[in-house]
Amino acid sequence: MRGIMEINANPDILGPAPLTEPERQYYFMEKCRQMVEKISGEKGRMLTCSIQTLGCQMNAKDSEKMTAVLEKIGYRETEDPVADLVLFNTCTVRENANLKIYGRLGYLKNQKKKNPDMKIVLCGCMMQEADEVERVRKSYPFVDLVFGTHNIYKLAELLYTQFESGRPVMDVWEEAKEIVEDLPGKRKYPFKTGVNIMFGCNNFCSYCIVPYVRGRERSREPEEILREIEELVGDGVTEVMLLGQNVNSYGKTLSAPISFAELLRRVNEIEGLERIRFMTSHPKDLSDELIDAMAQCGKVCSHLHLPLQSGSSRILEKMNRRYSKEDYLALVERIRAKMPDISLTTDIIVGFPGETEEDFEETLDVVRRIRFDSAYTFIYSKRSGTPAAAMENQVPEDVVKERFARLLREVQAISAQITGKWVGQTVPVMIEEKNEQDESLVTGRLSNNAVVHLPGDEGMIGRIFPVKLTESRGFYYMGEAVR
Ligand code: 5AD
Ligand code: SF4
Repeated sequence: MRGIMEINANPDILGPAPLTEPERQYYFMEKCRQMVEKISGEKGRMLTCSIQTLGCQMNAKDSEKMTAVLEKIGYRETEDPVADLVLFNTCTVRENANLKIYGRLGYLKNQKKKNPDMKIVLCGCMMQEADEVERVRKSYPFVDLVFGTHNIYKLAELLYTQFESGRPVMDVWEEAKEIVEDLPGKRKYPFKTGVNIMFGCNNFCSYCIVPYVRGRERSREPEEILREIEELVGDGVTEVMLLGQNVNSYGKTLSAPISFAELLRRVNEIEGLERIRFMTSHPKDLSDELIDAMAQCGKVCSHLHLPLQSGSSRILEKMNRRYSKEDYLALVERIRAKMPDISLTTDIIVGFPGETEEDFEETLDVVRRIRFDSAYTFIYSKRSGTPAAAMENQVPEDVVKERFARLLREVQAISAQITGKWVGQTVPVMIEEKNEQDESLVTGRLSNNAVVHLPGDEGMIGRIFPVKLTESRGFYYMGEAVR
């Protein structure tokens, strides 16, 4: 794991804190570093931090950024869930994500009794909900620091305030302010990373809490994105995942608007970069211009994640998705006309309020017609404050479970049939890591995101090799590099 974009490495911390970002945060990182150094001197060991992330790729990216800040402050990251600083980056898209956090907090309460210096930090989407923050304040007073999604960049400053006061600090902003560039970066993998291109979402799908907790759509300037990717490539990155809740509407709100298709073309030109992925696309905004750009840009991977949510036009309307079953089928047809081999994956919700057996069968119909490479299936979860939570005809639990099982069977059967289709062919594979179970193997990914295990060594990581796929084992392939 390496850091990038280290600016202002030695700020003057005797004077007042700078008012501009990111200088202000570098100042507080240095202030915190001195404190951590002192405590670690007293304890005679380095302080550890555990970063536990729930939810989507955006959260994973935010956690990478926060890890970089904590390491700069002097913490050493550990896989152990108990550490001197435990940070939970939370998700609230479905209720079970919230329940998980309270379970873990209960466990940490006892651990903190053994190590009273332990700091417990909660941040991310769940903390944007006033009810949850209130619950933490009342029932979990041993939590030291709470912040939301909009002020993650202030981690060092907030932590310093907590260190100084010795009391719980809670700072949740209702709205996003500036996009702060040039904070330290860190990567889980040396050769691939996510790059935020936009934040927030304006779609207000009626079941979804994201627009309330991540705020309105804001795009980063294309020059900033390109500069970041160029620097990453200079530091050994060969694959990037462009991240946004709705990448297809990238750039619309910038003072000099630019389309996502145009951004893709520019990223595709970066020398040394080998693969480009992106996530997530909304079907209503996926333009023909983007389909052309994907088909023409050699580095853009042969994979598209295109959430369907439901196959019933009636339910799609209640979901406020702004496309019909027919629109979705026609869109996939246009995509496949230009990219016949593209791998398509999707998200589907079962049991949205008012979903009838007929509606559900429409979903099964789309699944059978499109034949997704894989699908993430979710049971509808009522999120308070969203329009769907107030809808009548919530579907009984036993009905939802039965439909969910039927959908899963269908989706898995199709996936298994599709995975086998490349056996015998030689395809480009990015080698990602050493195989966890077998030392003699490495694990890589096809452009279409499928996984393959093959004999190899660490030196191959981060590079693309032609690999012959010798066998399909359901969800992955076995293969061998062709030299
Ligand atoms: N209930 C169930 N699934 C949901 N998703 C979003 N909100 C909910 C909800 N309230 C799913 C959607 C989305 C994915 C990230 O999570 O399918 O695409
Ligand atoms: Fe939620 Fe819809 Fe926005 Fe996706 S597009 S984050 S499902 S509101």
